Amino acid sequence: LRVVVIGGGRNGEHEVSLASAAAVARALDPRRYDVVPLTIDRAGDWRGADGEALGLRRAIDEVRACDLVIPVVHGRHGEDGTLAALCELAGTRYVGSGVTAGAIGMDKHLTKLVANSVGVPTARGVLLRRENAHAYRFREPVVVKPVTAGSSLGVTLVHAASELPGAIDAALAFDDRVLVEQVVVGREIDIAVVRRADGSMLVSPALEIEHDGLFDHEAKYDGRAVFHVPARLDVGERWELERAAVRLYDALDCAGLVRLDFFLTADGPVLNEVNTTPGLTAESQVPRMFRAAGVSYPQLLDLLVDDALA
Ligand code: DAL
Ligand code: MG
Repeated sequence: LRVVVIGGGRNGEHEVSLASAAAVARALDPRRYDVVPLTIDRAGDWRGADGEALGLRRAIDEVRACDLVIPVVHGRHGEDGTLAALCELAGTRYVGSGVTAGAIGMDKHLTKLVANSVGVPTARGVLLRRENAHAYRFREPVVVKPVTAGSSLGVTLVHAASELPGAIDAALAFDDRVLVEQVVVGREIDIAVVRRADGSMLVSPALEIEHDGLFDHEAKYDGRAVFHVPARLDVGERWELERAAVRLYDALDCAGLVRLDFFLTADGPVLNEVNTTPGLTAESQVPRMFRAAGVSYPQLLDLLVDDALA
């Protein structure tokens, strides 16, 4: 099977996407897969296995010539449905969510609207645009974040009014729209969902993230956060999380692998965000979650491939 694995990308998660794509390429069994690695560099240009410039046209030829694409570009110009769109236009099958689920999942504001409409709670908050963002007045501690970004880039926990302008500017560096949300008090629990080739869903064991303060960009990749898999949950908590995760996966019409990040509060799960192209480095949450269920990384990839080809 000739498989194009796409990594990199023109956004702040470039390095993470390179690491995820490299881990995917390594985990694909060479007896079953002939891997063609493609990279989108920081400027948005396509490059081949040896770093040679391909240009969009030759990159699309590679996509057309393969049996399957595995897009592993986190963030904008990748996870947001644009790579799915490229595969759709090229007429090539691909792993993961389609254009709509990718686009909505990348947009934290739209994700909240969909989540709320299917009964999955999210943090209360307001949407600001660049033109009026600084008119927002501080009343209570809030989290300020760009509407579309990943790996917590541009996200700040604001405790005092004096910190607000800087936080808003930090978010505006990534997007013209900013969400200001009430701080949710709860345990941080991730859960992943995979659709199998027969259409049934495989829900991973939940993972709890233990760390000091905000699980920010640094904490995500400096190795200090402690993951508990499976998370220590009672049956009712587990059931509620699973139900919310599957509901949202369905409502967004996701495909392949999705990681849904929740806060588990005294009143139940509150959705933080949806990742339609979750981190796939060997140390990322998803491979660990499935490992805890006895599904190895290569087996997880086989599931994704089989679903994409079904
Ligand atoms: N956006 C990062 C890669 C994640 O969700 O894992
Ligand atoms: Mg994310």
